[in-house]
Amino acid sequence: MKVFVPKDSAAVSVGADEVAELLGRAGAQVVRTGSRGMLWLEPLVEVETAAGRVGYGPVAPEDVDGLVAAGLLDGTADGLGLVEELPWMRAQQRLTFARVGVVDPADPDDHERHGGLEGLRAALAMDPADVVTAVTDSGLRGRGGAGFPTGVKWKTVAQASSAVKFVCCNADEGDSGTFADRMLLEGDPFTLLCGMTIAGYAVGASEGYVYVRSEYPDAVAAVRTAIVAARERGWLGDSVLGSGFAFDVHVRVGAGAYICGEETSMLESLEGKRGTVRPKPPIPALEGLFGRPTVVNNVLSLASVPTILADGPQAYAALGVGRSRGTQVFQLGGNVARGGVVETAFGISLGELVETFGGGTLSGRPVRAVQVGGPLGAYLPVEQFDLPMDYEAFAASGAMVGHGGVVVFDDTVDMSAMARFAMEFCAEESCGRCTPCRIGAVRGVETIDRIRAGEDREANLVLLEDLCELMTDGSLCAMGGLTPLPVRSAIRHFGEDFR
Ligand SMILES: Cc1cc2nc3c(=O)[nH]c(=O)nc-3n(C[C@H](O)[C@H](O)[C@H](O)COP(=O)(O)O)c2cc1C
Ligand code: SF4
Repeated sequence: MKVFVPKDSAAVSVGADEVAELLGRAGAQVVRTGSRGMLWLEPLVEVETAAGRVGYGPVAPEDVDGLVAAGLLDGTADGLGLVEELPWMRAQQRLTFARVGVVDPADPDDHERHGGLEGLRAALAMDPADVVTAVTDSGLRGRGGAGFPTGVKWKTVAQASSAVKFVCCNADEGDSGTFADRMLLEGDPFTLLCGMTIAGYAVGASEGYVYVRSEYPDAVAAVRTAIVAARERGWLGDSVLGSGFAFDVHVRVGAGAYICGEETSMLESLEGKRGTVRPKPPIPALEGLFGRPTVVNNVLSLASVPTILADGPQAYAALGVGRSRGTQVFQLGGNVARGGVVETAFGISLGELVETFGGGTLSGRPVRAVQVGGPLGAYLPVEQFDLPMDYEAFAASGAMVGHGGVVVFDDTVDMSAMARFAMEFCAEESCGRCTPCRIGAVRGVETIDRIRAGEDREANLVLLEDLCELMTDGSLCAMGGLTPLPVRSAIRHFGEDFR
């Protein structure tokens, strides 16, 4: 019987390697996969049976002997039951993550067997302009944070006249509480490569770069392994799948700066320079990497493209609400009972994510605040749990969906400390290019410190609001421009913590 054990770094951090080794010694044919994203069950061991994969988890190394004796190797030991039937899995709509946790990320045959090449094949059979139209029609918007329509971006690059164009995948994933890019890179890297190749074909680029943060060594290794295998198969190279279209991908590793996730800083870093923000215009779509027209897309945006081409843009666009179409890969973290990845159509409420999927706090205390969208995202109170996960609904509430990170806090959180942290983070990570952010964030920390110390509280709250307005309106990029979001939301919803 085949036994599946994740080699995703989250699973490995809680003993998956030891469990895999012990199961191998016990006679199992062990296949290493990505993680299903039910992180509280890791290491999650799955056994192939005629009915489907039966799950056991969390399995500690010391549990292995007992489970094998009870019949784990043929799936008869008491366990979680069929993994795909678990409520957490059944309630999701996994499109981008369809193969994550299922396939062996290092095995191109497994990728192909699970339909992984269908999107690329479909794209190569189309006119490049029709591929751009399909992505536009799907309603896909950038999953990196800004939610910009991917098809519009691709069209701009496609229409730019240049002999050299690039596709750059942003895998810097610096947002607190986010890990979906990493799980995709580690669990299904061929899908990203297919998405990048489709982008290259659509816009007329022959070279792609994946910019990965240095904190993700396992993801770097997984993508590099996949690139070598894809070249051997002719999925990358001079004639992708025999189509005559040439495309290749390279990996570049960052050096640990949040601002290098901002697209123009990332391009500077890719060019071997210090990661500072470039003023826009020119936009990267027209003058990007080495001054050439460049598609910059997040991992999840690019990894969503193969499914859109395989199943048609209408199937993708049929999911979601308003102008937020398709699925988003939400990530539950912080003080949450069941942390992990939830891929579901836009429109699910914040409360459903936190309570139904997340199971409330890990501490068992009441939820007090949830930060959505990374360190630049707003803090929302439980009273806003009805809010649908939708770019426009969030924006109307002074919040943002961002990269889909949802970080939960219980009632012991001090929200004035969290507001201070937002300013401190900005001061630490600012690239220094513009004054409202470089100086403003430092003044923000000082002002919040005075408020917390009870010094001229009301006057300093007015000053802080004035500073937030200046940073919002005057910053060159969203680092300084959005830092007021967590600060203002903390004051608005949790004002008692400032008085
Ligand atoms: C301070 C800052 C950090 C960012 N970090 C990331 C990141 O880690 N990953 C990412 O994909 N986008 C990040 N972005 C957004 C990118 O600038 C850009 O919008 C995105 O890569 C475009 O791809 P998309 O349209 O597919 O989302 C960041 C933006 C800012 C202002
Ligand atoms: S807002 Fe901050 S990070 Fe962005 S350009 Fe200005 S100084 Fe740099």
